[in-house]
Amino acid sequence: MNEGLFTPPELTDSIEMPGNRGGSNWGMTASNPTNGTMFVVSMDIPAILKDERRAPPSLWNIPTSGTPAQKGKAVYHFYCERCHGTEREGAPPAIPSLVNAPTVFGSGTVKDVVKYGLKDMPGFPDLTSTLLDDLITYLGNPQSAPGPLPPGGEPPAGSGSAGSNAVRYWTGYGLQPSIISPPWSRITAYDLNQGTIKWQAPLGDAPQAAREHLKGTGVMLPRDGPVITATGLLFIATKDEGKLRAYDQETGKVIWSVDLPAASEGVPAMYEVDGREYIVVCATSAKQTEIPRDGPEAPSAEPVHRSYVAYALPENLLGQK
Ligand code: HEC
Repeated sequence: MNEGLFTPPELTDSIEMPGNRGGSNWGMTASNPTNGTMFVVSMDIPAILKDERRAPPSLWNIPTSGTPAQKGKAVYHFYCERCHGTEREGAPPAIPSLVNAPTVFGSGTVKDVVKYGLKDMPGFPDLTSTLLDDLITYLGNPQSAPGPLPPGGEPPAGSGSAGSNAVRYWTGYGLQPSIISPPWSRITAYDLNQGTIKWQAPLGDAPQAAREHLKGTGVMLPRDGPVITATGLLFIATKDEGKLRAYDQETGKVIWSVDLPAASEGVPAMYEVDGREYIVVCATSAKQTEIPRDGPEAPSAEPVHRSYVAYALPENLLGQK
């Protein structure tokens, strides 16, 4: 059902396209005022949303009585099940199966991923280390917690019970990057004077698809914005790939690219010293291929070689135009 911009998700799974991370985000545009061109970076990430009367998981949901395995089962039920499935089967390849997860991934990794998140998976920093241990116990041997869950605690405020007739609904993020065909992200150059599109180009190659020899797919979930020069270039980095590219503003052709020591998020900065132009990027995130563990430094995380990298543009560039 689509009744326009403010159509709410339904009580059953509803497709939202582009999803709540789709379209364009702050910092993802740049304009050239001399010829009225605007460059917009956008992503096509559908989401599957579903309104539920159940609030997002909170520690209130976890029973205070019961065995460690039963508490672990409650953690799984409230925190993991909506993505990893009732039978821990997941939805590979986007969402891995958690069958035998402590053996498959290692208990330490499971705990780190749950605490800090991993790409599209949110972290759950509220879970205590005891509850994480209980979760591992349950995941290692689900048969150790047979039967229904022990009763939980108080529901979180605002879930529409006592004293109010208002019903509050909730939904998760539901992002499903790869259920549509690529490109998953692109750059569009708009001619604002004509109201037309000058060109569109995919924003790089998703490493996930490059493994299957697909090119020009656009990275999934870019977190990068473009910067443009008066000399006709458009620079943009891609987080997942850890690349920086220069496009021709007129044609959308990639005319230069470089592998950064780490992935870059955000918008590059341009500056000038003694008539020479420079571009600097912060390269501080893990590349997709390095099993990123963004955020806090999990002990098991791959080291990320964090740096600022500056490139000098060719000396004669400013004089050319
Ligand atoms: C909102 C959806 C969502 C929820 C909720 C969620 N996960 Fe995930 N999980 C994912 C996605 C997506 C991935 C794949 C991440 C990637 O791209 O590698 C993942 C990956 C994992 C992995 C694999 C880590 C690795 O090293 O490859 C483990 C283990 C895991 N999740 C455990 C859990 C546990 C335990 C919970 C509950 C405490 C949980 N997840 C809750 C979406 C979710």
